[in-house]
Amino acid sequence: MKIDIISVVPGLLEGPFSHSIMKRARDKGILEVNIYNLRDYTTYPRAQVDDYQFGGGAGMVMMPEPLARAIDELSATTKFDEIIFLTPDGIRFDQRIANKLSLRENLLMICGHYKGIDQRIRDKYVTMEISIGDYVLSGGELAAAVITDAVGRLLPGVLNDETSALFDSFQDNLLAPPVYTRPAEFQGMAVPEILLSGDPKKIDEWRYEQALQITRLKRPDLLNDDLESA
Ligand code: 6GU
Repeated sequence: MKIDIISVVPGLLEGPFSHSIMKRARDKGILEVNIYNLRDYTTYPRAQVDDYQFGGGAGMVMMPEPLARAIDELSATTKFDEIIFLTPDGIRFDQRIANKLSLRENLLMICGHYKGIDQRIRDKYVTMEISIGDYVLSGGELAAAVITDAVGRLLPGVLNDETSALFDSFQDNLLAPPVYTRPAEFQGMAVPEILLSGDPKKIDEWRYEQALQITRLKRPDLLNDDLESA
């Protein structure tokens, strides 16, 4: 899978993909992430990429030409399955969308800044608008990093134990059960005995029951969602 990201603050995206699981995915050649600096695509003086908005109002808007040039140039060599604009007014990102995107081959993400991007870019190029939650970030970069991480870890071969993503929180609309490691007793608190029983069937049942209970307690909305979509 290839994810291309257009940003005015490319430095913000250097860290998140250079460590841990994302680094491994890139090193293995399973995930390619390329960051493009929007200022490299402007023809305005002083690398300008934003301007005052027509009609007045506070805040700058990202101009259409640099974005169009960047998208056209990247599209000349890559057929993008989705051109995603990161914006707080997009559809709310969740595991279902992550699963769906993980089946695509080429994604282009556009990170907005200031008051947003010229509407004509959204009308002409953008195929999907995604938000990562109901709060405002100063730019789309952190959202792009969140989505790339959530999608990248689902790609076959990225996680060591390939089945492990299947049991993540949210994969069944259930939160994950509690986990324990050594020592079996810590400050007087014992690990649930069943986990030491060596009976995989009983352990699976216990984990499923725990997941149900925890979901009922903390996120009953997930169980309701399940009934509605069934
Ligand atoms: Cl995708 N962008 C910005 N700027 N803020 C956000 C967001 C995205 N998702 C939640 N808040």
